Amino acid sequence: MNYKTILPKKMRGIVLLTLSVLSVAMIPVAQSQLMFRNTVTGDVLDLSFGKKGEKTEAVEHFLNTGENHYNTDEDAIKAGESLFASACSGCHGHLAEGKLGPALGDDYYTYPKNANDKGLFETIYGGARSMMGPQYNNLSKDEILQIMAWIRSIYWGSTEKADWLTEEEKETFQPAAMPAEFKEALENFNKNH
Ligand code: HEC
Repeated sequence: MNYKTILPKKMRGIVLLTLSVLSVAMIPVAQSQLMFRNTVTGDVLDLSFGKKGEKTEAVEHFLNTGENHYNTDEDAIKAGESLFASACSGCHGHLAEGKLGPALGDDYYTYPKNANDKGLFETIYGGARSMMGPQYNNLSKDEILQIMAWIRSIYWGSTEKADWLTEEEKETFQPAAMPAEFKEALENFNKNH
């Protein structure tokens, strides 16, 4: 027995329509990209800007999930270190201990969302205030992810505040040693701000 035999003619159309709407709704949609926002203004960031780079798997995954695969990739962390030295250390110090800009390895953030990787990407890509200009002209998204991985690798703050880690990852996470330069830089920074 099928629906033709049990349903009056008029209702068949409705049943067919309902079925076709349902089947369209059930087509699996490609994972949709997250919305990235400017750290200061909250405006949606245009991710088509900037230095072109290959859209790597790491970038694709990050834009969909906010997870940075490079955080556990030694080669990417190394590459991130040298990118940081040329693009960021002039203002943030070679060890990210802070200079003109704040330290990036501690657990105090001007913008609390920088404790997770989506927020950190938004600040680097789109910039913040004053001298912290958007970095999308200098760096590809892949390079930004490499720099972020290095920043996470030198983190000397408390594990509890390491929001980019999952609860499970926090169980085994060991913060790095605090660079001696940090204390000095912090004193200077506080004096000047
Ligand atoms: C010309 C100097 C300059 C350069 C170059 C620069 N920054 Fe900054 N950065 C600053 C200043 C100043 C601030 C503070 C801005 C604010 O509070 O809005 C800042 C803030 C930040 C913050 C926010 C920190 C917090 O506590 O929330 C992050 C993250 C950051 N910078 C990362 C980077 C990275 C990564 C690079 C290199 C790709 C970089 N910056 C390059 C000057 C700079």
